[in-house]
Amino acid sequence: MYLYHFGFKELPFSLTPNTHFYLPSPSHAEAMQVLLTALKTGEGFIKVTGEVGTGKTLLCRKLLNEIPDAFEVAYIPNPALSPEEMRYALASELGIKGLARINQQQLSQKIQMKLVELNQQGKGVVLIVDEAQTIPWESFEALRLFTNLETESRKLVQVVLFGQPELDAMLASHRLRQLRQRITFSYKLRGLSKEEVAQYVHHRVAMAGHQQAGLFDQGAIALLHKYSKGVPRLVNVLSHKALMLVYGEGGTQVQKSHVRYAAKDTDSVEMTRQVSLPLNLVIGACVLTTAVLGFFISWPYITEYLK
Ligand SMILES: Nc1ncnc2c1ncn2[C@@H]1O[C@H](COP(=O)(O)OP(=O)(O)OP(=O)(O)O)[C@@H](O)[C@H]1O
Ligand SMILES: [Mg+2]
Repeated sequence: MYLYHFGFKELPFSLTPNTHFYLPSPSHAEAMQVLLTALKTGEGFIKVTGEVGTGKTLLCRKLLNEIPDAFEVAYIPNPALSPEEMRYALASELGIKGLARINQQQLSQKIQMKLVELNQQGKGVVLIVDEAQTIPWESFEALRLFTNLETESRKLVQVVLFGQPELDAMLASHRLRQLRQRITFSYKLRGLSKEEVAQYVHHRVAMAGHQQAGLFDQGAIALLHKYSKGVPRLVNVLSHKALMLVYGEGGTQVQKSHVRYAAKDTDSVEMTRQVSLPLNLVIGACVLTTAVLGFFISWPYITEYLK
């Protein structure tokens, strides 16, 4: 690969959400601030949404690393679970033993006892759920019931939901109105601006071990921003391909042409915006035009005939 050629110690644009590469972009930094502030308030649900590839899982991992010691964390990365499985997942994350052969009521009791015990040790429990748009409807209710558990002064569990915009669509439904009311803080991740794409690319390249500035020229950055629409995962895909092209040519700098070629080779990138009218509309317009023209052309004959 191109590691040696560019002086990298590791691949700069891998798709894994690796916190080593984390850049506190304005949107990510704001989101982190909202999360930490919200956790301090000790209230119900916190929600972070963002389009596919905008860095939710990375932020989630960063939060797991940075959350203050006063919190005990339970993490559910794949929450497509039934309510029963959701309870087991929370219990096992909290390190509760003896979960085999107990019924749901006993399980709920064990969870409650553990939460009270942690609370007495001065610890609040935070349940962090990634991919929250995949939670089945009935399991949202199980989550809500966790946040019902409270002492006189504070909740025993706070829930942080990370999800794609579909999560907002689900939460907007009448079925989830009770849960929706309990969301006290929410944040929507934005894509990167052109300047932020430049910083992002530079940051990742530097973290991977390339020390000189200007590996991507300004034209390349502008196209990366245009084709990726500021979505970090797409910036990674395009940058990786562009670097491969430069390496193939034996070059030292990524330019517009490399990014354009990388974009052509990437299915999820829209190269041009073609305005295409629906086919039936086009056919309808043609038929109408022909009829109107036909009428005007034959008008002299019609008037002649009518005389
Ligand atoms: N602020 C950032 N700093 C460094 N890398 C980032 C940042 N934001 C996103 N990335 C990178 O972009 C890629 C996609 O991020 P991630 O997997 O977290 O997105 P996601 O929002 O969870 O996507 P999905 O909706 O598909 O789950 C990863 O390689 C991640 O490291
Ligand atoms: Mg993710």
